[in-house]
Amino acid sequence: MLVVSTEYSQILAANVAKGLDCPLGGVKFSRFPDGEQYLRLSATDRHMVIVGSIPDADALVQTLLLVDACEGAEITLVVPYMGYARQDKRFNEGEPLSARAIARVLSTGVSRVLTVNIHDRAVLSHFRVPAHDASLAGEIGRYLEKSAFSSPLVLAPDDGAAAFAGQVATVYGWETDHLEKTRISGNEVRMAPRNLEAKGRDVVIVDDIISTGGTLVTAAAMLKEQGARSVSSVCVHGVLAEGAYARLLSGGVREVACSDTLERACSRYSAAGAVVDGIEGCW
Ligand code: R5P
Repeated sequence: MLVVSTEYSQILAANVAKGLDCPLGGVKFSRFPDGEQYLRLSATDRHMVIVGSIPDADALVQTLLLVDACEGAEITLVVPYMGYARQDKRFNEGEPLSARAIARVLSTGVSRVLTVNIHDRAVLSHFRVPAHDASLAGEIGRYLEKSAFSSPLVLAPDDGAAAFAGQVATVYGWETDHLEKTRISGNEVRMAPRNLEAKGRDVVIVDDIISTGGTLVTAAAMLKEQGARSVSSVCVHGVLAEGAYARLLSGGVREVACSDTLERACSRYSAAGAVVDGIEGCW
């Protein structure tokens, strides 16, 4: 078995190779004068594990080129962050089902796909090969335990993320709840935990993705007003679009942490263990 990665998942791939106790292959990346991508593998094996997050179109092309370069091998494709997964419904007539389009393309030439906290597991049914999703809820729980949080209140930003927050909180038996939005007037909205009090608590909001951080900034301000001692945020995929990191910190969020599914300076815990377990245990 040989692990290779796109330019987008190098550190995670190295840790996955270590966990699988197999070598990490080198890949040379460059571009043609017209901007098209080129790559070349330095070695291949009968079973190739390709690790490549897909935050944008360049990353998608690089993943597809890597899969093609491995033709003839049994390929396990690991997509730690699968972009376009949030457009998993036709919200308006004439729109694509983007998650399905990407899943179909990624199914070509590979034997199986492993994702990490894909936005909605229903998207897995769009792959044309066996697909499995690994969850980092346990990793987040262990990360929080190691950090300086005294009995945090683990909050989901909405009802949809409540199950994930529950899985995080279960690791050490912390309290958990989800934020509920109440419309006070035409232009006034209140966000507060549905059942519990934030007063005096170290609140940690957990989510699959921090994109613009918009929801979190509003929630943090309101939780502080309600007397929370601190508000922090831990997500799986730190997309951090439109200056989200600075926006969150300047908006009073104590800490923003994410995993290495997208390699960021605030990647504080790794998806490697869950990816290794997924590769070893699911097929
Ligand atoms: C939405 O369904 C996701 O789980 C995240 O809550 C969302 O992507 C976060 O977006 P933003 O950071 O832009 O508020």
